[in-house]
Amino acid sequence: MKTIEVDLDERSYPIYIGKSLLSDQRLFEKHVTSSQVMIITNETVAPLYLEIVEKRLTNVNYETLILPDGETSKSLDSLNQVITRLMEKKYSRTCILIALGGGVIGDLTGFAAACYQRGVTFIQIPTTLLAQVDSSVGGKTAVNHALGKNMIGAFYQPCAVLADTEVLSTLPEREFSAGLAEVIKYGIIRDKEFYDWLEENIESIMARDDDALEYTIERSCINKAEVVAEDERESGIRATLNLGHTFGHAIETALNYKEWLHGEAIGCGMLMAADLSMRLGLMDQTKVERIKTILERAKLPTQIHKDVTLEQMLENMKVDKKSRDGVLYLILLNDIGKAVVTSDYTEEALKETINHFLARK
Ligand code: NAD
Ligand code: GLY
Repeated sequence: MKTIEVDLDERSYPIYIGKSLLSDQRLFEKHVTSSQVMIITNETVAPLYLEIVEKRLTNVNYETLILPDGETSKSLDSLNQVITRLMEKKYSRTCILIALGGGVIGDLTGFAAACYQRGVTFIQIPTTLLAQVDSSVGGKTAVNHALGKNMIGAFYQPCAVLADTEVLSTLPEREFSAGLAEVIKYGIIRDKEFYDWLEENIESIMARDDDALEYTIERSCINKAEVVAEDERESGIRATLNLGHTFGHAIETALNYKEWLHGEAIGCGMLMAADLSMRLGLMDQTKVERIKTILERAKLPTQIHKDVTLEQMLENMKVDKKSRDGVLYLILLNDIGKAVVTSDYTEEALKETINHFLARK
């Protein structure tokens, strides 16, 4: 088992990574320090992993809330369900919530923990690759509003993250690839050595080889923990974690959050950011080709979905969260391993990039 510390003074916490962590009684005893516990999960994950977690909760009164699968569970309605159940069962401020699932369950549970009685403890047990390398770490919690994704939320850190690599064996292939997009992201924005390693080992990772997976998650979490420790509330360097997100969100919005998974849109968006960097003379073409190749090997799309138009892309990019005083800042690349946040690009180059990636011209 590997342990990485997210260093945030009194809000610091460990991320445990390894095989069979869900069977590790001592880990649970160390972190489940309340006798009032609520596990929040969904109807896909529950039949797979709820029982094994329940077995770890000896001498504890626990409740289980099983929500429907899907992004729709990241809603104010679900938040209300969690809070109602906690109140009905008379849970006090010392209770602990456990998020057992992917990013949807993690984001919702984290936000419920931030809200209930002004903040209770929560543990992340991420079960998708995306959640293990990204969403369970760093304390961004949220639910969606009808008018926008992640619009109601808080920065609120868990007390521990338990990433058991074994649970990834049941993850569908597309979901696994979507998580890999976020892994590749760390290499591209700040860790060239990791990027080189990923190029050499992508087939072993895709085959879900234990050692390759453990190292992939560990190195991703080290990168995320370093960035979060430096800039918890995204006033600077944390924005680089959004590489490809402005392009990706524009694609997701145009597709009404259907057709493509988040990680698939981010993968394509990262390549578009690399292409724009090349057009602006920041990075050479061979590096853009390298990024395209690794995304293809990870079975991620490298062209915008055929139903999306240039006009939709431009319109959707305008309302991005990284827009400040009407100026849209983008994450671009000076090199593989060197991301920059900048508004120094031309509309013409941006349109050329979008046009280049449109499947429907
Ligand atoms: P998800 O939670 O919807 O999980 C994807 C699918 O995999 C679901 O159908 C789920 O039931 C299933 N699943 C989960 N674990 C499984 C397992 N071990 N075996 C089989 N199936 C399993 O999606 P996700 O990609 O994990 O997360 C996406 C969410 O995360 C989005 O809401 C996004 O906004 C959010 N997110 C948050 C952050 C953050 O920093 N908080 C970062 C990135 C993404
Ligand atoms: N997923 C981006 C962040 O945590 O900042």
